[in-house]
Amino acid sequence: MRDYWSFFSAQQFVFGRNALPHIGSMVVNRGLKRVLVVTDENLDSLGYSERVREPLSRNGVEVVVFRGGEAEPSIAAAEQGFEFAKAENVDSVIGLGGGSNMDLAKILATLLQHGGHPRDYFHFDRIPGPVLPLICIPTTAGTGSEVSHAAVLTDHDTGLKMSTLSPHLRPSLALVDPALTDACPKQVTADSGIDALTHAVEGFTALDSASVSVPNDQAIPYAGSNPMGDLMAERAIRLVGEHLETAVLEPGNQAARDGMALAASLAGLAFSNCAVAVVHALEYPMGVELHCSHGAGIGLLLPYVMEYNREFAAPKLAKVFEWLGGNPSGLSEDEAAREAIKKVVDLRQVIGIPDRIRDIGGSRVQLPEFASKAFSIKRLMDLNARPPSEAGLLEILESAF
Ligand SMILES: NC(=O)c1ccc[n+]([C@@H]2O[C@H](COP(=O)([O-])OP(=O)(O)OC[C@H]3O[C@@H](n4cnc5c(N)ncnc54)[C@H](O)[C@@H]3O)[C@@H](O)[C@H]2O)c1
Ligand SMILES: [Zn+2]
Repeated sequence: MRDYWSFFSAQQFVFGRNALPHIGSMVVNRGLKRVLVVTDENLDSLGYSERVREPLSRNGVEVVVFRGGEAEPSIAAAEQGFEFAKAENVDSVIGLGGGSNMDLAKILATLLQHGGHPRDYFHFDRIPGPVLPLICIPTTAGTGSEVSHAAVLTDHDTGLKMSTLSPHLRPSLALVDPALTDACPKQVTADSGIDALTHAVEGFTALDSASVSVPNDQAIPYAGSNPMGDLMAERAIRLVGEHLETAVLEPGNQAARDGMALAASLAGLAFSNCAVAVVHALEYPMGVELHCSHGAGIGLLLPYVMEYNREFAAPKLAKVFEWLGGNPSGLSEDEAAREAIKKVVDLRQVIGIPDRIRDIGGSRVQLPEFASKAFSIKRLMDLNARPPSEAGLLEILESAF
């Protein structure tokens, strides 16, 4: 049992439409002179690197751009990025993009400081000290990587997404300028938006931190739900309820973009302090095998996992219903929990997220392997509202098939 809970974030969190032009002074104030911007060809060709380079150059900061980011980045992308960056003598790293580029930037900041190979740092707490000063600038809303302690790489050898989790991966600066998400394509908006919802729901419905049975002073990847995480999750879920559908259906709606950008960071704070659980565990093998985006896989699975957890988390799921805009008056907690699941199913449909594993190319014979791989990710099992079994995971996948 733990006697206390704690809460971590990026060292500085900057939020605002048109915050980006102020990045120059923020970087100079940190004493940084030569930064590596980690992005991808797509965002580079759309002018995003230039939007970052201009205010930095204006403030005398040298900028080197690595454009080798990719969606769901592989270990090979990290190896290439390290090879490229080693010779560049940079003193800091900026992750510019969605979760994929921000995560790649985190791994490169680690390798540039400590050397080695990405695999050396997989799992929890294996980065021996601070990494190069790290700044994250999200262009999706989103993964919350800008505030989280996580970086995810796809390991094509094992067919799993591998997380590197470390307090050192929380950026020194998270600069969230929702204007950068204004032109985010519809599908990316939907996928990353439902990922944010899932982070908030999994963080909030996780077992309570007081029930975590490790010694007080032992660092753990996720510490269970706590009052601060609950606050972040509540606000994130309310914002998703208000804004996700609009952000997808009316991409030019700035209020919706602003709301989702904030929701994503708040949800990132919730999950990275409290937990992600079975939804994420199941998506990791499924996403690699079926080549679906993280968000699409997550969004597909979320309501099925909520149903699996329902009897164990009915009071909290009832709250999720209310926060998503539902009216719980006259409903029992169990009825409201069922309504929460329906709301997520409706939202998923309206924003165009697939609802069946068979529709994204999966076949039934693959399900036991997905269940077994997911069950092996212990940190994602430990804090799930309902203690999972491998048979239970298979049951979820069967229902989602
Ligand atoms: N580190 C964490 O805490 C954490 C949390 C959740 C997910 N993730 C990881 O994040 C990744 C998913 O990230 P994501 O959902 O943000 O998508 P993404 O980063 O994979 O981006 C998807 C595509 O959208 C494009 N794109 C991004 N922003 C755009 C914009 N504004 N305009 C036009 N195109 C744009 C990108 O170029 C890319 O091709 C996965 O690898 C997942 O595992 C990490
Ligand atoms: Zn996620």
